[in-house]
Amino acid sequence: MKKIIIGNWKLNLDHLEAIQLLQKINYSLPDNIEDKIEIILSPSFTSIRSLQTVISSDKLKIKLSSQNVSQFSSGAYTGEVSATQLKKLEIDYGIVGHSERRTLFNEIDLVINDKVNRLIENDIVPVFCFGERIEERKSGSYFNFIENQINEGLKGLRKDKVNKLVVAYEPIWAIGTGEVASLENIVEVLDFVKNIISKKPFFNEDNIKFIYGGSVSPDNAQEILNSKIIDGVLVGGASLDATKFVDIIKAVEL
Ligand code: 13P
Repeated sequence: MKKIIIGNWKLNLDHLEAIQLLQKINYSLPDNIEDKIEIILSPSFTSIRSLQTVISSDKLKIKLSSQNVSQFSSGAYTGEVSATQLKKLEIDYGIVGHSERRTLFNEIDLVINDKVNRLIENDIVPVFCFGERIEERKSGSYFNFIENQINEGLKGLRKDKVNKLVVAYEPIWAIGTGEVASLENIVEVLDFVKNIISKKPFFNEDNIKFIYGGSVSPDNAQEILNSKIIDGVLVGGASLDATKFVDIIKAVEL
């Protein structure tokens, strides 16, 4: 299965800086690597149009993801951005349920489930994030916690609608902390989640990818990316540095 590497730029870079970083990353990529690895960048809403213009005019093979989407399709929802609007900008992926949205913006499972549905209706692949806090990890209750996030967030999805899905394990204690989860931790959770998802009506072995995020860097990328169980990575901090991000991409053994 083709590995995927997503750079989540979070709340960083204006649109001019974003273009510069895109060009720097693209310039440093080995030839045709995008044919073997799916490379996706997730900038702020304000940069999407600019990046999309560069990508389509220069025929870059880098794809775009949003970091968020409205749970509503249209209407009187000040400040929201819809999946339909994103689709017009040739967005292929959309991050939903990131822990920063769950914890800092009180996004609950019900809202996340609506967002997943809006993306699917617009043919945008959801990058559905889940993961436990340090409390659940320490108390050993993380399996229950994660099972609930998966069941609620992906509730009611229909097989005929779900073309592709990315499921991203992002343990909160590993995000932005420099403390990467061990390969054993990641594989244990992804195996557990694959088992839950394999029983869902929308399950399709070939079209669901299971990835990891949390302090991924050039130092740990090789071990993570070359595990057969892990289909890719979601990179935060290190994706803001072209050299580091490209070194992570190069860590995939082709
Ligand atoms: P860091 O790579 O900075 O830990 O962030 C991970 C993340 O939240 C990606 O979505």
